[in-house]
Amino acid sequence: MNNDTVQPHLDDDATAWAAHWIDARRTTLPKRLCGPGPTEDQKVALRRAACAAPDHGQRRPWRCIEIGADQRALLGEWFAQALLERDPHANAAEQAQAREKAHRAPWLLLLVCRVRGDDPEVPPAERLLSAGCAVQNLLLMATAMGLGSALTSGKAMASRALREGVGLHADEDALCFVNVGHVKAWRAAHARPQPDDVFSVLGSD
Ligand SMILES: Cc1cc2nc3c(=O)[nH]c(=O)nc-3n(C[C@H](O)[C@H](O)[C@H](O)COP(=O)(O)O)c2cc1C
Repeated sequence: MNNDTVQPHLDDDATAWAAHWIDARRTTLPKRLCGPGPTEDQKVALRRAACAAPDHGQRRPWRCIEIGADQRALLGEWFAQALLERDPHANAAEQAQAREKAHRAPWLLLLVCRVRGDDPEVPPAERLLSAGCAVQNLLLMATAMGLGSALTSGKAMASRALREGVGLHADEDALCFVNVGHVKAWRAAHARPQPDDVFSVLGSD
């Protein structure tokens, strides 16, 4: 039998595990992460998880760019340049703070999505959704590995320095950074929406 056609074996345990890891995922900001980052095997599994995301029309609308240890100083320069783009008077301490942010996450990816371009069948919102599904898969897998993770963004995302530095195409935007590592100190869980707040049934008021 072709393994690709085998249905997952769902039983109570599997459902409970899925619910557990979905509930356990939480943002651990990069300043609360420490090394080591994921192992090479874990990275393979994390990438595979992202690639399992729904993708209408198999457009492959998103990609991830890993920013390795040897590229962090460069990323820091782009952060400092991004700061100067929006505030030419930013002082040396502010620029140093911008640079430092590039060094925090043990494993750092930049999530990029093709948000423009002529595709009437799969509009930008669907492509963004596919990217969101991909990154959530990755975050959940990281959580199940006992790793901490966070999405981070900020004004540098749209800066010319970052766009040109990482080589974005004209139809792409950088959506967020994906930070993964071990956790120095787990943060307490915070309140989440109740399902009744966000789910309704059409026709029952
Ligand atoms: C696209 C995206 C970008 C984010 N960027 C930041 C960020 O720059 N800084 C930050 O503190 N949190 C950021 N977050 C994380 C949210 O603040 C976080 O998910 C939210 O507070 C809920 O917390 P939880 O993830 O622990 O459930 C981002 C989340 C998303 C989806």
